[in-house]
Amino acid sequence: MSDAPAKTASTPHYHDNILQTVGDTPLVRLNALAKGVKPLVLAKLESFNPGKSNKDRVGIHIVEMAEREGALKPGGTIVEATSGNTGLGLALAAAVKGYACICVMPDKVGQEKRDILKAHGARVVITPTSAPPGSPERYTEVAKRLASEIRGGFLANQYFNPHNPGIHYLTTGPEIWRDTAGRVTCYVASLGTGGSTSGAGRYLKEQNPRVRVVGVEPVGSVLGEYQRTGKLAESHPYLVEGIGQETIPGNVWFDVIDEILTVTDRESFHVMRRLSREEGIFVGGSSGTALAGALKVAERMTAEDIVVVMLPDTGERYLSKFHSDAWLADNGMLDATDLRVGDLLRQKAAGDLPPLLTLAPSDQLRTALSLIRRHHVSQLPIVNAAGEFVGTVVEPKLFGALLDGSAMPEDPVSAVMEGPLPRLSADEPVVAATRMLTSVHALLVEMGGRPVGILTRIDVIGYVAP
Ligand SMILES: Cc1ncc(COP(=O)(O)O)c(C=O)c1O
Repeated sequence: MSDAPAKTASTPHYHDNILQTVGDTPLVRLNALAKGVKPLVLAKLESFNPGKSNKDRVGIHIVEMAEREGALKPGGTIVEATSGNTGLGLALAAAVKGYACICVMPDKVGQEKRDILKAHGARVVITPTSAPPGSPERYTEVAKRLASEIRGGFLANQYFNPHNPGIHYLTTGPEIWRDTAGRVTCYVASLGTGGSTSGAGRYLKEQNPRVRVVGVEPVGSVLGEYQRTGKLAESHPYLVEGIGQETIPGNVWFDVIDEILTVTDRESFHVMRRLSREEGIFVGGSSGTALAGALKVAERMTAEDIVVVMLPDTGERYLSKFHSDAWLADNGMLDATDLRVGDLLRQKAAGDLPPLLTLAPSDQLRTALSLIRRHHVSQLPIVNAAGEFVGTVVEPKLFGALLDGSAMPEDPVSAVMEGPLPRLSADEPVVAATRMLTSVHALLVEMGGRPVGILTRIDVIGYVAP
């Protein structure tokens, strides 16, 4: 999108402002992830934009067109309902051009996205994700209201504003056509507003009507079903951000989109994580969705095909969510092979770890009994005055000794003590715990060398026999 002069040794080369650096993002061949499919699969990395998403193109273009059309005047306020990325594109334009910017976001959007907007001077208004479409608390409705109430307010309206697909028609599509030397045969993008699929898709089809345009959405979104049957199904919640719909945005151009595929959250996050680990490409959840869809399409294609998949944004925006093992484990999204012992311990405690219950060697058996009853545990480590884990009171032996009279409630726990529990680090994969638990009933889990909890057979059995 830059109109800076061509680079030569004798002319200084720079951009007049950050907005001119948007676009011209690279196409990168996928190797490890595309191993099982015949076509060349190229990822268009929209994280190379200054705001690190495809929405820089949209936000800036919408502002420039609103200025040209007179909808946005000096001193005006740009308002938008956004899951964050369009808000950032708008906030960049607002910062450079001197407008105020208000972003209205559903509360499921991660903290990183809210903070980035604030860092760029935007005001962030948070609304409940659960507010149904059309209700006054819905983020889209709040944005509409604010834009009409504020003097000089301008609603960017990315779901219906034709300049959203318009900029992808003007830039994204031509870049893909140019960088594949006109050989692209399939274009795949995840569907949010539809702008990037519709706009770039229309441009590519105009160059070659045989280019297949594929949109991808999360399970729970209604667009695919609507395209296939003409019926508006009920939507269901999903975790991936920025894509999927409960209603039909005007910028989803069904005449351009040949097919809409559906991908689960689990597939999206799995593919997203493989991208960073196996290709060094750090992206967000919707990129995982798009690529999971692209690989499904590529399975049906030949070695002559070139599939271009848009990866809309950076993974930095999701460090505390989709890229966090703990978050994934809490949401039941971590593959068993990725799951760590510490994740299981946290799940068991439904959040923060409770303090590890221990006994001193001189504590009475009645104390052990009351802890077992109160906390529903079956074993209690015994820790001596030096802090060493010297043994364990185990429920069957304690009960047996009290029942057959070989020990009295006032005896010290050392009277029925068994050996200390085997230890294992919270960073170990769950399979390591499963292996050890074939021969022992419980393990002492440590973090940084310090015991923090106990993992038992019942805690891991769900992962072996779900
Ligand atoms: C993270 C993310 N990915 C993908 C998309 C989808 O792009 P589009 O709105 O062009 O369909 C969006 C849209 O907001 C998004 O925020």
